[in-house]
Amino acid sequence: MKIFVYPGSFDPVTRGHMDIIDRASRICDKLIIAVLVNNAKNPQFSMEERVALLRQALGERPNIEVRSFSGLLIDFMHVCGATTIIKGLRAVSDFEYELQMALLNKQMDPDIETMFMMTAIQWSYLSSSVVRELARNGAPIDPYVPDGTAEAIYAKYGKK
Ligand code: COA
Repeated sequence: MKIFVYPGSFDPVTRGHMDIIDRASRICDKLIIAVLVNNAKNPQFSMEERVALLRQALGERPNIEVRSFSGLLIDFMHVCGATTIIKGLRAVSDFEYELQMALLNKQMDPDIETMFMMTAIQWSYLSSSVVRELARNGAPIDPYVPDGTAEAIYAKYGKK
């Protein structure tokens, strides 16, 4: 069974993430979305909130699971029996960090592959921080976040 893991902060999930999720879920038997800790970031949404938003966005999808983990991605891969890390690449600016992560994970376990998918062109400018900034200022976020999640994101900022 081909188990892939799509890791990230998902603070919060965007339509850009959903595009990668849809495409990745078609090329594996099971896709695990891993909400992880990036120590360089101070998340706005708690781990539980980020998982709940992803689950709300996905509904019932038989080969997709959402989980959280507070350790290293490579350890999570072992816990899940997963073989492949899926990451989205938006622009050249993502490349250096992603290359470092992919090489580090390869060094820690040569049997684990990292596969990159180019983010769909219409989401190449999108990021979770853009969504947070819009929501904080009460601007429309519906075009950028999965259906049914905008209200919960606004609520975080006390907006409607
Ligand atoms: N469309 C739109 N936006 C996207 C996107 C896509 N397809 N893919 C990524 N992004 C955005 C995210 O929203 C995020 O935006 P933000 O910076 O404004 O919040 C940004 O790109 C980076 O996203 P992501 O891929 O989720 O990376 P991250 O840096 O938040 O998370 C982890 C990286 C969590 C996977 C990484 O830190 C990790 O593996 N942590 C576990 C500990 C570990 O193993 N560390 C490595 C060894 S030291």
